[in-house]
Amino acid sequence: MESTKTGISLYIDAAPKTGSVLEDVLHGLSASPKSLPPRLFYDQEGSRLFDAICELEEYYPTRTEIGIMQARIEEIAEELGPQVLLVEYGSGSSLKTEILLQRLPAMAGYVPIDISRKHLLSSARRIARRHPDLAIFPVTADYTQRIPGLPDLLARHRPVVYFPGSTIGNFQPPRAEAFLRRAAELVGPGGGMLIGVDLRKDRARLEAAYDDASGVTAAFNLNMLRHVNREVGPVFDLEAFRHRAVWNAEASRIEMHLVSVRDQVIDLEGQEFRLAEGEAIVTEHSYKYTLDGFEEMAARAGFETRHTWTDPDSLFSVHYLVADQ
Ligand code: AVI
Repeated sequence: MESTKTGISLYIDAAPKTGSVLEDVLHGLSASPKSLPPRLFYDQEGSRLFDAICELEEYYPTRTEIGIMQARIEEIAEELGPQVLLVEYGSGSSLKTEILLQRLPAMAGYVPIDISRKHLLSSARRIARRHPDLAIFPVTADYTQRIPGLPDLLARHRPVVYFPGSTIGNFQPPRAEAFLRRAAELVGPGGGMLIGVDLRKDRARLEAAYDDASGVTAAFNLNMLRHVNREVGPVFDLEAFRHRAVWNAEASRIEMHLVSVRDQVIDLEGQEFRLAEGEAIVTEHSYKYTLDGFEEMAARAGFETRHTWTDPDSLFSVHYLVADQ
């Protein structure tokens, strides 16, 4: 490591200018089928509801991934080895990372990357208090974009990108592959990626995970409309929509919809958008992979799979990938 400095040592602020909510809504309602981008889920209430989803009995991914990490941490630490520069994409509150930070031997440093400066810095400070010997390089940026300054930092170390939570499942597969390819280029030959990926399973289990009995996911989905109303004015009548989650087996994805309960017209900026009774606005796709399907995609993107861990019921998987030489 070029510096022995510990604590919060470098801070790249490459926060992008995000497109406006109004542009997102106009664009999404003009599309066929109508859609709204998942980033509109995450206002303050949406983030709170997402944390509540992660605690639900029906939502198995979070606790299953944590279970795999805890049960297999010795093997994971051995695979990753010493002097890793751990780069976390979308670090948020960095909860799962704690398992790694406690066990990875002699780390070169930790680079949490998140779009929210507030979350990023508060969790970086918390981690600095718990790990006083760790060098932390927080980066405010959109990890799906190129980040100026990051390749220079990574080039001096052996980077491993950590991307938990099966967030890769929220990308359309060609985008997921392109995203993995960019990660392989960023870490360079011999660099790695530790990634959590949700697996294909029976319809009943998947649909329950995205339409829980207590209605938390329904509230999370409908909250997107409340968020839009707060940002651009009273556009949507929340009573006129209901939550739906369906497993599309052919496309291997859960689709989250907001279904119009009646014929209605949405007025926005002088434009009229007609929704028929039963017509859906798509709010999210969550792709589910087979182990082979994911490993093949990773190989096309320039990653060799070194190790795959799953839980006893094969609900979820964690993969350690190494970029091709
Ligand atoms: C963030 N992402 C991995 C979640 C998922 O399972 O696709 C988002 C989510 N949507 C509804 N429940 C959870």
